[in-house]
Amino acid sequence: MSAERQDPLLLTPGPLTTSATTKKAMLHDWGSRDHEFIEINRRVRERLLALAGAQDTHVCVPLQGSGTFVVEAAIGTLVPRDGKLLILVNGAYGRRMARICDYYQRAYSVVETPEDVPNDPDGLEGALADDPLITHVAAVHCETTSGILNPIERIAAVTARHKRALIIDAMSAFGAIDLDARKVPFDAMAASSNKCLEGVPGMGFAIVRRAALERAQGNAPSLSLDLQDQWSGMEANAQWRFTPPTHVIAAFHQALEEHAQEGGVAGRGARYRRNCEILLKGMREMGFVSLLPDALQAPIIVTFHMPADPKFDFKQFYDKLNQRGFVIYPGKLTVADSFRIGCIGRLGETEMRAALDAIRKTIKEMGIIHCGPKQLAAATR
Ligand SMILES: Cc1ncc(COP(=O)(O)O)c(C=O)c1O
Repeated sequence: MSAERQDPLLLTPGPLTTSATTKKAMLHDWGSRDHEFIEINRRVRERLLALAGAQDTHVCVPLQGSGTFVVEAAIGTLVPRDGKLLILVNGAYGRRMARICDYYQRAYSVVETPEDVPNDPDGLEGALADDPLITHVAAVHCETTSGILNPIERIAAVTARHKRALIIDAMSAFGAIDLDARKVPFDAMAASSNKCLEGVPGMGFAIVRRAALERAQGNAPSLSLDLQDQWSGMEANAQWRFTPPTHVIAAFHQALEEHAQEGGVAGRGARYRRNCEILLKGMREMGFVSLLPDALQAPIIVTFHMPADPKFDFKQFYDKLNQRGFVIYPGKLTVADSFRIGCIGRLGETEMRAALDAIRKTIKEMGIIHCGPKQLAAATR
């Protein structure tokens, strides 16, 4: 991998380590009406649509901001004022969608499973059968809170059978885990430039069913987060309504080129799976215990239980790893004390092995003998 070694390697859920060529693509100033810039936009939108297998049915609407902006925009634009959203929750990003509904005063209900248990398609089935007011369902493909992979195919099938519309937060999965609109019916999928597609942060995008977007005119309670308005503006003059993140788009264009060169979703996914296997094996050899069984683990980010050894102090561990050039991530679980290590970004086998080596040296330096947790019972139900 060709990351510039003076930067620390980011083993996090984003922002991520990007390639030198993706960073270099930003060394130019574009006017928002430049012919070349407009062409870059067109190619980015076309590529994203193709990656989702959605050219015949959906459109790609890019949006300034972080991933949350585009999830919020998708909910606000697609769920009508008299609609109701059913949210499948097993972590912070599902809960965040409920907060969005609170802000937008959209009716919603929740089918919740613990953070280490996948979304429940049977619970969804029952909830949809019981409540005719529900118009839309929302789910998170990979819940980055724990790193769990949710059964999106089954969720989509149940939702479609009940003739409801599905909104997917595929932020941390899209580009590395297959999500094809021809097999998994959805009205909207939201993701961002800087996760598995390895661009820099600053923009998100939604892949939205054209017919649903056409019907959504006037729904959005926010001007800047109105995907219908953003799309119709772009269709009219090929430009963004408001100042585009030009450099981010140029970097994203380069990152998408590199994604294709790597073999698209299959190639990127294979590298991340290998990263994840190396990480899990190496950490287990040291005695660390991961939260999830391998069958539920997405190759995106791994949650580890905090070691019970009294000499383990997360801040110290984090700082020492940082000094060695590796950035990890605190835990976000409510069920267990934990930390996370990511497998995504411009990292491969060499970088994962170097990270494990740094962890080995760090725990030795801290005098930690036992890397396992105190009790597993509470967390691994
Ligand atoms: C599944 C998921 N949804 C939404 C978000 C929010 O993205 P952002 O922090 O870019 O707003 C994240 C961020 O990690 C995520 O993993």
